Amino acid sequence: MYWSTILGFSTLVGAVPQFGGGGGLTMLRFGCSQVVIDRLDPLVNPGAIPSPHVHQIVGGNTFNASMTTGDVSAKASCTTCAFSEDFSNYWTANLYFKARNGTYKRVPQGGAAFQFNDNFSTQTAGGILVYYVSAQPGKITAFKPGFRMLVGDAMARSRTGTKLRRQNCYRCYTGPNFGGDNAAPCMDNTLDTEYLPKKQCKGGIRSNILFPTCWDGKNLDTPNHQDHIAYPTSGPADFLSLGGSCPSTHPIRIPQLMYEVVWDTTKFNNPNDWPTDGSQPFYLSTGDNTGYGQHGDYVFGWKDNSLQKAMDTSGCMGAKCSTLKNQAIGNAKACSIKPIVQEDNEGWLTELPGLNMPMMQFVRHLLDSSYVKPFFREYRRDFLQVFHGHPGVQCSELYSWCISTNAFAQVKYTSSEIQLNKSDWTPLDHAARFLVRVLRFSWENDGEWSSGKFDPENDENGEEELEFYQVWAILQYLQAEWEAANVDDWETERLTGTFTEIMTNTL
Ligand SMILES: *[C@@H]1O[C@H](CO)[C@@H](O)[C@H](O)[C@H]1NC(C)=O
Ligand SMILES: *[C@@H]1O[C@H](CO)[C@@H](O)[C@H](O)[C@H]1NC(C)=O
Ligand SMILES: *[C@@H]1O[C@H](CO)[C@@H](O)[C@H](O)[C@H]1NC(C)=O
Ligand SMILES: *[C@@H]1O[C@H](CO)[C@@H](O)[C@H](O)[C@H]1NC(C)=O
Repeated sequence: MYWSTILGFSTLVGAVPQFGGGGGLTMLRFGCSQVVIDRLDPLVNPGAIPSPHVHQIVGGNTFNASMTTGDVSAKASCTTCAFSEDFSNYWTANLYFKARNGTYKRVPQGGAAFQFNDNFSTQTAGGILVYYVSAQPGKITAFKPGFRMLVGDAMARSRTGTKLRRQNCYRCYTGPNFGGDNAAPCMDNTLDTEYLPKKQCKGGIRSNILFPTCWDGKNLDTPNHQDHIAYPTSGPADFLSLGGSCPSTHPIRIPQLMYEVVWDTTKFNNPNDWPTDGSQPFYLSTGDNTGYGQHGDYVFGWKDNSLQKAMDTSGCMGAKCSTLKNQAIGNAKACSIKPIVQEDNEGWLTELPGLNMPMMQFVRHLLDSSYVKPFFREYRRDFLQVFHGHPGVQCSELYSWCISTNAFAQVKYTSSEIQLNKSDWTPLDHAARFLVRVLRFSWENDGEWSSGKFDPENDENGEEELEFYQVWAILQYLQAEWEAANVDDWETERLTGTFTEIMTNTL
C-alpha cells in the first residue's frame, strides 16, 4: 500500500479528524518472514497436535501448540520481523491452488512493495506485512503481555447477516509489481472483494485483515478471543478504524493492527488449468473456496513497553521508528521453528491437510464421554502390546465377526471382573471386546447408545448398526492415535476411506 494513497484518501482523512489538527500519525508497516508453516493453533485449539487446518506463522520463535499466557518476549530468542523487539506471533490460513486433476498445491506467500525506503520488507521469505497504526500518539494503549485476539470467522462462507464491513478483503493485482495498488486496502470497488477474486489476477492476490481498535481494558483474552475487543460505535470503517468512538463496554483505544498477505498466484493463471465450470481454483487451508472464511490470529509479544513507546512517537513510519531497533534481513531469515506436525505442505496434495478434522473432533468428543473413556485405556494398552505392525481391523470384518461369534454374549468380551489371559487373542478379539464393552456399558447406563441390545437380525430401525459403526469409528480413531503417538508418521490414510464414508453417511 502506498503512503500517498492513504494521505490522499479523503474518506480516510474524514475518518481521522486528528489529521486536520496537524497531529502526528504513527504507522508501523513492516515485513516478517515465515517462521514456520504448521498445523497448529494455540489460540483456537490450544494443545491440539494437529489442529484442524494449516497456517503460515510469522514472528517470534516461541510459537507452539500451546503458548505461555505470560510474557512471550521473555521466552523468545529471535523473531522474523523487521523490529527486533517484536516477538509477537501473527498467523493466517494458507492458500492452495486446486488443479483439474483434484490435487492441491500451496501458493507461495510473501513480497511487499518497496515503500518508505524499507528494503527489509521486500526481501522477506514467505511471511506477511504487519501494520500498527495510531492516529493519536499519546492516546493509544498498546497491548499487554498475554494479550491475544482473533478476527474473522474460519467457518464463514458468505457475508449475510454480519455488520462487519470489509474487515477482510482481497485485492486482485492487475499486473506485476503490485499493479493496481492505487487505493487503500478494501477501498477499491473495482479490484477489492470480500470473496476470492473470480478471475485471474495478473499480479497475484493480496489479503488484508483488519483488527478491531477498542478494548474492554480488563481481559487479555476471552473464550472466543473476540469479546474483549470491539469496533468503534460507528462500526468498522471502510479502512483503518482510527476514528469514531469506542463503545462504553470497550472504552480503551488500541492500535489498529492490520495484516497484509500477498499470494503469488502468477504460476496458476493459465485459464486451461482453471475449472471448466468457470469457478475459481483457490482454496484457503480451511477448505474454503469462497474466501469469506479468511481470519487472522494475534499473540502479543513486544518486549517491555517498546510498542507503547512507538505508538506514542509521532511520525514513526514504515519500518523506521526512532524508539525501535531494526534487525538485518539475514538475522530475521535465520530465525525459524521446526514444524511439529510432520506433513507435506509443498507437494501436489490429494487433500488439504486436516480436512477430516471436524469428524475427528467429533470422535475426540466421544472419546471423552463417560461411555468410552473407561475402556479406552485398556484397549490402548492391548494395542500397544499386541498390535504392533498389524494392518488394522476393517469394519465389515469386525461386524461379521461380532455376529458370527455372538460376541455380545461372550463373557470374555463383556466381563470386567474376570482376569483374562489375552496372549492368544487376535486383533479382532481386542477390537470386539472394546466395541462390546462400550456398547453394553452405554446401554446399561441409558447412555448415548441406549437401544438395548445388539441384535442385527431383528434390527427394525437400523439403529444398532449405526451405533456399531460409531463405536467402530472410535476404534479406528484410537488406532490412528496410537500410531501417531508411537510411529513417526501420522498416516492420515488410515482415517479416510471407509472410515470417513461411514462417519459422514451415517451421522
Ligand atoms: C513446543 O512444545 C514442545 C512440548 O512442550 C517442546 O518439546 C518444543 O520444544 C516446543 N517448541 C518450541 C519451538 O518451543
Ligand atoms: C495434477 O495436476 C498438476 C498440475 O497440472 C500436476 O503437476 C500433477 O502432477 C498432477 N498430478 C497427478 C497425480 O496427475
Ligand atoms: C536498499 O534500497 C536502496 C534504495 O533505497 C538500494 O540502493 C539498495 O541497494 C537496497 N539494498 C538492498 C540490499 O536491496
Ligand atoms: C496365557 O496363555 C498362554 C497360552 O495360551 C500361556 O503360555 C501363558 O502362560 C498364559 N499366561 C498366564 C499369565 O496365564
